[in-house]
Amino acid sequence: MSRIELKDLRKEFGSVVAVKDLNLTIEDGEFIVLVGPSGCGKTTTLRMIAGFEDPTAGEIKLDGSIVNDLEPRDRDLGMVFQSHALFPHKNVADNIVFGLRMKNVGKEEQLQKLQEVSDLVRISHLLTKMPAQCSGGESQRIALARTLVTEPSNFLLDEPLSSLDAKLRRELRAECDRLHAELQKTFVYVTHDQEEAMTLADRIVVMDQGVIVQMGSPIDIYSDPVSYFVADFFGNPAMNLIPGEFVQNGSGIEFKSDQFNVPLNEKFSSVPIGSGTFGIRPENVKVVSSSNGSDRKIGLVEPLGKDTLLYFETDSDRPFVAVVDGTENHTAGSPVELNFPQENIFLFDSNGDRIRA
Ligand SMILES: Nc1ncnc2c1ncn2[C@@H]1O[C@H](COP(=O)(O)OP(=O)(O)O)[C@@H](O)[C@H]1O
Ligand SMILES: [Mg+2]
Repeated sequence: MSRIELKDLRKEFGSVVAVKDLNLTIEDGEFIVLVGPSGCGKTTTLRMIAGFEDPTAGEIKLDGSIVNDLEPRDRDLGMVFQSHALFPHKNVADNIVFGLRMKNVGKEEQLQKLQEVSDLVRISHLLTKMPAQCSGGESQRIALARTLVTEPSNFLLDEPLSSLDAKLRRELRAECDRLHAELQKTFVYVTHDQEEAMTLADRIVVMDQGVIVQMGSPIDIYSDPVSYFVADFFGNPAMNLIPGEFVQNGSGIEFKSDQFNVPLNEKFSSVPIGSGTFGIRPENVKVVSSSNGSDRKIGLVEPLGKDTLLYFETDSDRPFVAVVDGTENHTAGSPVELNFPQENIFLFDSNGDRIRA
C-alpha cells in the first residue's frame, strides 16, 4: 500500500512562488502525470515529495504519515531524473547494484536482483559494458534499472525521456507503461510533453504557474478543458482558438471575428456578450468543397498519410487547421466552406475561462 498526499504544499524561492498551496492525493498504484510548461513547478513538487527540497508550508504524507522531516532515503521512493548521471568508471552491473551495496544487501541477493531487473528492462546484454559504451536509450534503461532494483513503493520520474529522440521516446514510453502494469506500483511522472501525458497517465494533473489548473483522465482533459490554457496545451495539431466577440443577433448569439462568423445555437444562449475566444479542434472541422466560389481558400495541404492537414491563413500568427481523411483530395488555393458542428464548439471568456453551454 502506498498513497501520497500533498496538503497545501507550497515552495517559495525568495520572491518566486514555485508551488502554490497544492492539494493532491495520489492513490496506491496510480500512474499520475504532472504536466505543464517549463517553470510551472513540476520538478519542485517532485523534489519535495522525494525529500530533496523542504516545503515552505504544507504537508507531505506517505500512507497517512507526515514525512516532511524524513530523509529522502527513508521515504521508500525511487527517483529517475532526466539526466541519468551514471557512474562513468563503474560498469553497468555495478551501477545498477550500487544502491543495494549501500544498503548492505548480500552478494547473492544483489546478483539475483540484478538479473531480474536487467531482464525486466531488457539490458541483460549490457551488464559488462561501461556507461560511455551505451546509447542514450540504453543509459536511460540502466537508470531505470538502478531505481527498480531497490524496489521502492513509489516511483518519481522527472522528464526521464526528454533527452531522447522521438522514436526512442515512444519505445521507452511503452516500456514505462509495461513496467507500471507489471509492478503495480505508484508512478508520479513529470513531463512538459502533452502527448507523453496523454499516453501514460491514469490521471493527468495540469499545472500552470505553481497551481493545479485541472485534473482528470486523459480523455476528460482533452474533451472537457476548463480553460483556454488547457484547451491550447493538449492536442496536436492544437485546437483552433480564434479571438473575437460574442454579439447578440436577433434572438440568438453569434461569434464574430474578422474571418469567422458563427451563429451559436440555443444551448449557448447564456453566453455573456463581449470579447472572448471561439475554439474548435482541427479534427472536428468539416471541410466542404465549395461550388459557388467561397472566399475561403485552402492555404496549404500537408498530407501525413492517414490524415491530411489543411491550413488556412488568419490574421493572427497562428493558421487555422483542419484535419481531413488522407484519402480526400484537396489542393492549395481551392475554395471551401468550413463548418463547425455545435457539439464540438468550445467558448472561452476574456479571462480564458471556459463558458459552458
Ligand atoms: N533552486 C531554485 N532557486 C530559485 N528558483 C528556483 C529553484 N528551483 C526552481 N526555481 C524556480 O521555481 C519555478 C518552478 O521551477 P521548476 O519546479 O523547476 O519548474 P518545472 O519543473 O515545471 O519546469 C521556476 O520559476 C524556477 O525558476
Ligand atoms: Mg522540471
